[in-house]
Amino acid sequence: MNRRSFGKAVGTGVAAGAIGAGVAGAPTLMRVARATAPSSAPSSAPAAAPASAPAAAQEQAAGQLNLYSSRHYDTDARLFSDFTAQTGIRVNVIEGTEDQLISRIESEGKNSPADLLVTVDAGRLWRAEQAGLFQPIYSDVLNARVPGHLRHPGGFWFGLAKRVRVIAYAKDRVSPSDLSTYEALAHPKWRGRVLARSSSHVYNQSLVGSLIEANGLDATQAWARSMVGNMARRPQGGDTDQLKAVAAGVGDLAITNHYYMARLVNSTVREEREAAAKLALFFPNQADGERGTHVNVSGAGVIANAPNRDNAIAFLEYLAGDSAQSIFARGSNEFPLVDGVEMDPVLSSWGPFREDTLNAATFGANGRGAMFIMDRAGWR
Ligand SMILES: [Fe+2]
Repeated sequence: MNRRSFGKAVGTGVAAGAIGAGVAGAPTLMRVARATAPSSAPSSAPAAAPASAPAAAQEQAAGQLNLYSSRHYDTDARLFSDFTAQTGIRVNVIEGTEDQLISRIESEGKNSPADLLVTVDAGRLWRAEQAGLFQPIYSDVLNARVPGHLRHPGGFWFGLAKRVRVIAYAKDRVSPSDLSTYEALAHPKWRGRVLARSSSHVYNQSLVGSLIEANGLDATQAWARSMVGNMARRPQGGDTDQLKAVAAGVGDLAITNHYYMARLVNSTVREEREAAAKLALFFPNQADGERGTHVNVSGAGVIANAPNRDNAIAFLEYLAGDSAQSIFARGSNEFPLVDGVEMDPVLSSWGPFREDTLNAATFGANGRGAMFIMDRAGWR
């Protein structure tokens, strides 16, 4: 489609409703943000196309975007409606879990109506790219706005917000001066005190993938063995469960993505705020000469056979803008990619930190090795 047509603003509302049947065996929530029924929305049934109506013709000129997203935040609806107001492009949203959406696009194959996959963790983006789901995109806007280490080197996907894997500690039992690096969590002084979720989760695979890159396979294997020896309990639950367990005294430290802490701090549930009050975050590997804290992304890639490729690029470029960056990141308590963009006050209160600038694609490339290492170490 002609990119120049994007300047036309067509007033649209945001409606919700199912837009088609999912692939068998891949249960998927469906939602659509649009003004009228799309003529070629993702659906297993033939769609009626009101091609003769002038209004429909006008909308078809701007077109639509079929967005497969594993994000489920209320603020996303505002992003979609703002984008539609700016461009006239309708956004049809298919929601599901990360793995469901990847499986669905694979199942749909060349005929997939998907234009763009939005998901979390570079490890998953890497898997989708390896499965051939994405096509390379060159965009001056994205290359200028998205830091080089937070996008695929070949343009197959782009980070949209940052998520940082940090150490949470019990303020009454741990001093920040006791902490330094991810590597130092292997020290015997932490025996029986560390909490972490399962090694089967991509967040830990990506973190360990970065350790492999920094320290090599042998050192990372030794680190993982010591970590398992230092665990307060067998891995169970998600990152929030680790935070609550530290607050409850099950252990003294937890590895967590930062936004789970922000959610506890901002929680409407008194018990969760009380748990957060017992905890603080530590950003590892900050000293002079160290590589910085592990930074991952929420991100997106344009699907290989996207029927609305230009609209997908336009949406990515819109999400890289200051206003959309703030809405996108605040909705999930993530850090914006772009410096100077407003973020959640809880995140601002943690102050600046140095990022590991290892390219996020490396996390996925090392993911299999990370799984192997954690498995051999007995990290369940
Ligand atoms: Fe998460």
